[in-house]
Amino acid sequence: MHSKLIIKNLTKNFGEKKVLSGIDLQVEKGESIVILGGSGSGKSVLIKIVATLIQPSSGSIQIDGEEVANISEKRRDKLMEKFGFLFQGGALFDSLSVWENIAFRLLYHKKMNKKDAKEIAMQKLKSVGLSERTADLFPSELSGGMQKRASLARAIASNPEIIFFDEPTTGLDPIMADVINDLIISNSKQLGATTITITHDMNSARKIADKVAMLYDGRIIWFGDVKEMYSSGNAYLDQFIHGRAEGPINFLAK
Ligand SMILES: Nc1ncnc2c1ncn2[C@@H]1O[C@H](COP(=O)(O)OP(=O)(O)O)[C@@H](O)[C@H]1O
Ligand SMILES: [Mg+2]
Repeated sequence: MHSKLIIKNLTKNFGEKKVLSGIDLQVEKGESIVILGGSGSGKSVLIKIVATLIQPSSGSIQIDGEEVANISEKRRDKLMEKFGFLFQGGALFDSLSVWENIAFRLLYHKKMNKKDAKEIAMQKLKSVGLSERTADLFPSELSGGMQKRASLARAIASNPEIIFFDEPTTGLDPIMADVINDLIISNSKQLGATTITITHDMNSARKIADKVAMLYDGRIIWFGDVKEMYSSGNAYLDQFIHGRAEGPINFLAK
């Protein structure tokens, strides 16, 4: 059996600027990985590279044993069907109704007919706790929490094998954040999906993660079971998870 995802010695520069300097990470099928790291540490870049949305400078990424760094366009289209994405900020299309947002890939990539696509969208609405009435509303008519639910429904619409969640609870109050955490867990489990979640929210990390990876200075400086996160003895991880200004992480240098 292949691991779901194996990243080896992955690097990414934008011009002179080094963002990732040698990332290694292995994720098994059905696991939930949480990536921690300061703002600008390269978390979004890392998952966009894994999702083949941007190309790495060097290194290897295998998904189900297939090398996907610098994949051809044709194979990439096929590969993308395995992915679901909840982008940072949610980013719903404001000119499309809620159900059209959820069914976007089914309608425009899979060319599914409207009736079938809407039926799936309605099921997914339900699985994120939104009522049928929300289907024909526009994103601007929804509260922040409802928008996140709709974004989650869109991320899971095509029953993905790997789901990327980029700061899914940022900007939500603690109760709504916890509702979203629970929905992420229940829907991912139901699909048997492997998930990679970026978060600053330690409640979310504790709840969602099987394993935690901390990104700092272009590398994963700690990787382990979520149960070991608070007793790691790693000064960088400790500073981050306790939100201390004092410690080895130099925020001013970034
Ligand atoms: N397309 C791009 N071109 C140039 N620099 C970029 C690009 N995307 C991201 N960066 C830079 O890479 C660094 C990491 O960004 P990002 O992964 O978004 O950070 P975060 O950990 O907050 O998600 C930042 O300094 C950002 O400015
Ligand atoms: Mg980011």
